[in-house]
Amino acid sequence: MEFFLDTADTKEIKECWDMGVIDGVTTNPSLAAKTGRNYDETIKEIATIVDGPISAETVSLDYEGMLKEAYHFAKMHKNIVIKVPMTLTAMKVVKKLASEGIKTNVTLLFSPNQALLAAKAGATYVSPFVVRFDDISEEGMLLIEHIRQIYDNYEFKTKILVASIRNPIHVRDSALIGADVATIPYSVIKQLANHPLTDIGIEKFLKDWEKVPK
Ligand code: G3P
Repeated sequence: MEFFLDTADTKEIKECWDMGVIDGVTTNPSLAAKTGRNYDETIKEIATIVDGPISAETVSLDYEGMLKEAYHFAKMHKNIVIKVPMTLTAMKVVKKLASEGIKTNVTLLFSPNQALLAAKAGATYVSPFVVRFDDISEEGMLLIEHIRQIYDNYEFKTKILVASIRNPIHVRDSALIGADVATIPYSVIKQLANHPLTDIGIEKFLKDWEKVPK
């Protein structure tokens, strides 16, 4: 299972990349807005830090505009993945980019049928949003299970990238279901490492070490 960092903050990205715990990065307009930086510059800097897939998101909703943005990002670096929202127009863009060997990530995905369409169009990744789905009284992780089953039934190669993760349980459950990727906020990466018994254990070892003759 791959871990992507869900952020446009290059400090967080460098920290996690240096720890060896991430394989790629996902960004979106909201994450970009938080940095207060120029998006192109941010994407280019991320590509100097991370040697893995980096999702850059388009904002045009028409075919020509979306495709133009896609090429603009694609030529920045070989690792750029073009992130598009789940629309029928975007499916046309996905098909065209796939035929040219350009990777895509279909985002804002909330149903197994949307995941089927994206896979048929040739998407490299689909990004189902777990917690935003939970927030409307649906079951985010069940959505992941359904997409996994459908992709396995028909041997679709599209990767399931679990998005909108808020806590470590989502990461564990994504792994149990067999999702291909989890895109994780920096705060949750830190939570993954923590356990109170680890802290208690370290404290005890250090105390006992003081009693060992040196
Ligand atoms: O990158 C897409 C997704 O992970 C965003 O999640 O936290 O805005 O629901 P969130």
